[in-house]
Amino acid sequence: MPHITLKKGFKEVLDRLQEEDLFLGREEALLLVRGDGGTYPVAILPRREGTLLRLDKGAHFLDLGEIHGILNRLTQEVGGEVIQSTLNPEARPSAPPPTFATPRKWLEEGGLQGLLKNPKEVAVEIGFGNGEFLERLAGQEKAVVGIEISNWAIKRALNRLKGKGPHAILKAPGGWAIKWLFPSESIDILYILFPFPWPKRPSRRLIQAPFIETLAEKLKKGGKVVLATDDREYAQQMRELFPESPCFQEGGEPEEINTKYLRKWTSLGLTIYRMTFIKKATPPSTDHQFPHLQHPVEAKLKDPQGMVEGFRPWTLPLEGQGFFKVERIYLNLGEGTLLFRTTFQDPDLSLHHQFLLWRGDILDLLPTWGETVPPPLAYAMEEMARWLSKDRQR
Ligand SMILES: C[S@@+](CC[C@H](N)C(=O)[O-])C[C@H]1O[C@@H](n2cnc3c(N)ncnc32)[C@H](O)[C@@H]1O
Repeated sequence: MPHITLKKGFKEVLDRLQEEDLFLGREEALLLVRGDGGTYPVAILPRREGTLLRLDKGAHFLDLGEIHGILNRLTQEVGGEVIQSTLNPEARPSAPPPTFATPRKWLEEGGLQGLLKNPKEVAVEIGFGNGEFLERLAGQEKAVVGIEISNWAIKRALNRLKGKGPHAILKAPGGWAIKWLFPSESIDILYILFPFPWPKRPSRRLIQAPFIETLAEKLKKGGKVVLATDDREYAQQMRELFPESPCFQEGGEPEEINTKYLRKWTSLGLTIYRMTFIKKATPPSTDHQFPHLQHPVEAKLKDPQGMVEGFRPWTLPLEGQGFFKVERIYLNLGEGTLLFRTTFQDPDLSLHHQFLLWRGDILDLLPTWGETVPPPLAYAMEEMARWLSKDRQR
C-alpha cells in the first residue's frame, strides 16, 4: 500500500487540510481527493503524531503525484517534514483503456449495447485470471465480456486483448455484475472456470441458488453455463443446484477447456469436474432494473457534530441474507458536512463499501471508483435518511 509518513508539523497539516476536504473521525481522518471520474476518500491518517498516510481503494487510477504534491506543499508551508514516502511525485494516472469499465462507466456508456455495439452473440467469463481463455474467446465471432476483481488480472487481460474482436473488461464482483449490469436474456454463454471453492467458508461461493435464479433471467433461452472446478464438494453443489431450478437442464461435458488452473491441478493429479447447464425456460418475471448513478435523499439533521459524538453503528437487514450497515462517521469542520462509511451486502452475498456524503440536508453516494446505487442500496439510503432525521428529534 503506498504511504507517506509525516512527522514534524503533522497537527498543523491537519489543521490546514480542514479547510480543504478533510473529514475527521474518532480514530482517523479521511482526505477526499478528486480524481478520474469521481472523488476518492483515499487517505487515512491515524490521528497521532508521526503518522502514516495510506491510500485507500481506488488509488490505482488516481493521480498519486497530485496527492503527494498536496501533502508536500502543506507540510512545507507549516514547516513540517515528510520523513518517508513510497509515492512517486512524478506519477500520473494511466488513463483506463477504452475497453475497461467500472460499473459506473459501464452504465454511463450504455452497458452491453453501448460498449459492444448491440452484439448478436455474447460470451462472458467470470474470474478470467491470466486471461488466456478470454483471449481465445475474443478471437472468435462473439462479443466477449470478462469480469474480474483483480487489478493484476485485468492489466494482463487488457494487454492480451489488444486488437482482438469486440470485448469489454468489467471490474466488479462477478455475481453482482451479472445481476445488476446485464439486461434480461442477454448472455449466450457464461464461463466460470475454477472459481474459488472457499473450503472453510462455503457460504462465499459464487454458485448458490440465488445466483442460479439470476442466471435464469440473464441467459438467453438455449444459453449455456460452462463450469469447471477441482473441488469435489463444490462440483457436487453445482450438479445439485442447477437441476433444482426449473429453468436449467444438464448439457453434458463441455468442449475442451484449457486454463492455467486446469493445467496446475491436472499436473498435481487432481480430478477436474467440468459441466454444462442449458437454459430451457425463462422465469415468469424478468423485469430488470439497472442501478442509479446517484440517489439523493433528503435528511434533515440538526446537530452534525453531536451526531459524530454520539455515533453508534446502525444496521438495516435487507431481503434475503443482505444487510446495510453504517460503520463510521467523519465530520468536515469547515462546512459541517458528514461522510459515512457504509457496508452493503447484496443478496448475491458480495460485500461493498460505500461512502455516503451528507451535505445541505441531502444524503447521497460519494461517486468514488466505480460505485453505483442498485435498488436495494437505494432503499437502504432512504431508510438511513429516515434514521438520520429521527436522530435530530432526540
Ligand atoms: C482460481 S482463479 C481461476 C482463474 C482462471 N479462470 C483459470 O482457470 O486459470 C480464480 C479467479 O477468480 C477471480 N475472482 C475471485 N472472486 C471473484 C469475483 N467475485 N468476481 C470476479 N472474479 C473473481 C480471482 O481474481 C481469480 O483470478
